[in-house]
Amino acid sequence: MQKFDVIVIGAGAAGLMCSIEAGLRQRKTLVIDHANKPGKKIIMSGGGRCNFTNLHIHPSKYLCHNPHFVKSALARYSQWDFIELVKKHQIPHHEKTLGQLFCDNKSKDIVNMLLKECNDANVTIHCSESISQISQIPQGFELKTSHRTYQCESLVVACGGLSIPTMGASPFGYKIAEQFGLKVYPTRAGLVPLTLHTEQKEQFAPISGIAHDCQVTCNKTTFSEAMLFTHRGLSGPAILQISSYWQPGEQIVIDFDPSQSIIVQLEQTQNKQVKNVLAQHMAKRLPELLLPEQILNTPVAQLSKAQKQMVMNTLKAYPIIPNGTEGYRTAEVTLGGVDCNQICSKTFATRSVPNLYFIGEVLDVAGWLGGYNFQWAWSSGWAAGQVA
Ligand code: FDA
Repeated sequence: MQKFDVIVIGAGAAGLMCSIEAGLRQRKTLVIDHANKPGKKIIMSGGGRCNFTNLHIHPSKYLCHNPHFVKSALARYSQWDFIELVKKHQIPHHEKTLGQLFCDNKSKDIVNMLLKECNDANVTIHCSESISQISQIPQGFELKTSHRTYQCESLVVACGGLSIPTMGASPFGYKIAEQFGLKVYPTRAGLVPLTLHTEQKEQFAPISGIAHDCQVTCNKTTFSEAMLFTHRGLSGPAILQISSYWQPGEQIVIDFDPSQSIIVQLEQTQNKQVKNVLAQHMAKRLPELLLPEQILNTPVAQLSKAQKQMVMNTLKAYPIIPNGTEGYRTAEVTLGGVDCNQICSKTFATRSVPNLYFIGEVLDVAGWLGGYNFQWAWSSGWAAGQVA
């Protein structure tokens, strides 16, 4: 039997950050992960370049049943603190768009940075080790694993969410929460492509691979970014973002002309056919799939009032009721999870079980696309690492 001050379950973004901070406080810290290496999701993130944070981190960009919960940790360990760390390790990086910071080279730079910090803080990391039992003992917790038995004073659950099971994702964190009597909100895939019903899937199939800058709205939330037609449905940043706000059966509304440039040109043009105006602003095949041929061939000046209204409605408020999402296989994040009202927002300790902590994505917190989820992992991991 081995004794540690702190055991962290999950060597992902949150778990590694928490271990570094606990280790720096001279706490004898062990991280256990069932995957064969640490930080697997970090490595595959951001298309291999890890979008590690965002310049515009703000609590309003997180979904949580308690919207105030994220404020403390994001303020105490902010994007600027993580950027400092990245700079200290001389990791080349750049802002891609909308404040999103990416590595210039590869995501592995971030994992190497975290592992170096873990090493400097004397953190022990055990991979390929499965936990079969967790029990509460007078001194803290006892864990039985595929390898041996451990005891620790503080137990930090950093098992992440359900997205990409092939990368090690599992419902283990939720099961631990339930074992200790904590409420877990139902989970669903977020930041995920949307699928279409057969009729609409066939309608848009000819433009699979085509992207268009648009504005997508659902449940009073709007995102202006690119959207991508795929052979299964809709993707691209605007769709991934809105997917977190969409519930099955609901409608999303697409504005294909968020800058109003098509509308302005239609108002100023008289002789050109509608299709020729639209062709200047969108991929040629897209208008053909949105509007009847007869309208597309009509010169703008000859459109009836009703036809003009139809063109406007189609361009500015095109409704789609998605069939579903592509699910955890491709989702970037898991919505729902451990109820934050049972967790202290400053320390991440559970209110009901002494020395039991939950951090990162296993909690009922999901950020927008663009580095927001890693920042949540760093911030919550850092905060728990100060006390665990
Ligand atoms: P994380 O998932 O990182 O780590 C959990 C760890 O727990 C894993 O190592 C897992 O193996 C381990 N574990 C699970 N079950 C276990 C068990 N039973 N026993 C032991 N260990 C167990 N975000 C962002 O901000 N910028 C980006 O560029 C991207 N890109 C991106 C791409 C893709 C494809 C995905 C799927 C996700 C992203 N994300 C992202 C989201 C981001 O990866 C995610 O929010 C964080 O990794 C969450 O950090 P956690 O540490 O909470 O979980």
